[in-house]
Amino acid sequence: MHSNEELFQDLNSRRAEALEGGGKARMEKQHNQGKLTARERIEILLDDGSFEELGMFVRHQSHDFGLEKNRPYGDGVVTGYGTIDGRLVYVYSQDFTVFGGSLGMAHAQKIIKIMKLALENGAPIIGLNDSGGARIQEGVVSLGGYADIFLQNTLASGVVPQISAIMGPCAGGAVYSPAITDFIFMVKSTSYMFVTGPNVVKTVTQENVTSEELGGADTHASKSGVAHLACKSEAECLMTIRELCSFLPSNCEDPAPLHPTKDPIDRKDVALDTIVPSNPNKPYEMRTVLSSIVDDGRFLEIHTDFAPNIIVGFARMNGQSVGIVANNPAVLAGVLDIDSSVKGARFVRFCDAFNIPLLVFEDVPGFMPGTDQEWRGIIRNGAKLLYAFCEATVPKITVITRKAYGGAYDVMNSKHIRGDLNFAWPTAEIAVMGPKGAVEIIYRRQIESSENPQETEEKIIDEYRDRFSNPYVAAEYGYVDDVIEPSSTRFKIIRGLEMLKNKVVVNPKRKHGNIPL
Ligand code: HXC
Repeated sequence: MHSNEELFQDLNSRRAEALEGGGKARMEKQHNQGKLTARERIEILLDDGSFEELGMFVRHQSHDFGLEKNRPYGDGVVTGYGTIDGRLVYVYSQDFTVFGGSLGMAHAQKIIKIMKLALENGAPIIGLNDSGGARIQEGVVSLGGYADIFLQNTLASGVVPQISAIMGPCAGGAVYSPAITDFIFMVKSTSYMFVTGPNVVKTVTQENVTSEELGGADTHASKSGVAHLACKSEAECLMTIRELCSFLPSNCEDPAPLHPTKDPIDRKDVALDTIVPSNPNKPYEMRTVLSSIVDDGRFLEIHTDFAPNIIVGFARMNGQSVGIVANNPAVLAGVLDIDSSVKGARFVRFCDAFNIPLLVFEDVPGFMPGTDQEWRGIIRNGAKLLYAFCEATVPKITVITRKAYGGAYDVMNSKHIRGDLNFAWPTAEIAVMGPKGAVEIIYRRQIESSENPQETEEKIIDEYRDRFSNPYVAAEYGYVDDVIEPSSTRFKIIRGLEMLKNKVVVNPKRKHGNIPL
């Protein structure tokens, strides 16, 4: 018989063993590489003292390759729950100091337990990934563990927000769990993701490429679009996840939390009245418009460096979370191409899944022409953005700041596809195409046969612009609800969101739609 004191001592020594992870030397190695340990990361991520660990004493049951002699508590992943700004979240954090954070059966089961709890209790799941992938010694059981996680990710998709941070290696099929989640954060210089590493790439394609070039944070945040945010440090990454959570509801049934603001709803920024240049070919920075309009100028941009001709991210209007989708005339004139369409579509679908109203700022000359885009499927990919806006039933407000041309006019949350409120600035140009292109098509013969073709063309362009390149034809049809002073945009949007607060629109019953993939 042991005394209670002995039993508690035993518990404490087991706890101490678990907290040691893979030992001091491996923790030091982790620190020397500029990385934090699994538990240090959780401490930064969650509210002080809020973490409750579950499964601390889990061990693997494997007997192959000498594993039976090495059965560390926790099995390389720390799991549990805690709070961010007082709101419940579930967390798993892979411990690279234990078997390189590799995933075996027990490790997978711990993650799945947490994911199921998150789903059943309607709270976000945050995964901090730092792993050598499938635990080689456990073989197919590890692969099965991954597949079990992929299934849970898929079942949780659109039910609770799922956030992944990549804070070390993430290779092979392991990348597909983060890929199914809603947001992927990466840390510059210390994290990478790829399906096959540089050695395999060299063998198969003869390309010489470093891990960083192939799958580092900058690569995925700008080239592939796999990562939504690339952060300078782990601490910045974890703090940004906290901020992201502040915009999100806990699950698909809940509204996003309100964050009361002192920013007046009728605050006017007269600089907006002159931000659109009178020359329609001149760019301006749409981010300036956005930060001027939203609460306290705070806009959390997602996918900043990927397809920068469209801007997406979160902000608040009078305390209420909104998702913003905006063309950026400062990059490629704000044209819609494959990457910007896919980026926009994914964001719109996230917001719609989680009851976050959508604000659209539109200045778009159309879809990108060219063989590259056509052959890679601008039709199929542009349709994603169209489908996403059509399908979305959250409150949707559009502000046309300048160009709304061609198919892009329809796509960017027009009234025709259930945009609830569509405002235009007096600088708006809403037409099938820009004046020059239009006149050259419909008046080509008349221009060619005139005495002075250039003068004739200019004259007709002026006439066309007067007739069509303004917001009033669309407003006459009711396709634009109001033409507003740019400086009053904040007020108009906030009033609109209040008016749409109880909006209920239900799509036809079906198993699921078939978005063009
Ligand atoms: C078991 C592993 C492991 C793994 C690393 N370790 N990866 N143990 N299974 N997959 C162990 C190492 O033996 C070592 O143990 C410790 O973790 C740290 O590893 P190091 O190699 O010393 O670290 P480092 O030099 O930083 O290199 C990290 C690494 C490398 C690049 C991740 O370990 C590596 O290449 N590992 C294998 C990666 C891999 O091929 N995984 C399978 C991918 S396929 P000690 O005891 O020495 O500390 C996959 C399929 C998923 O994941 C399929 C899903 C469908």
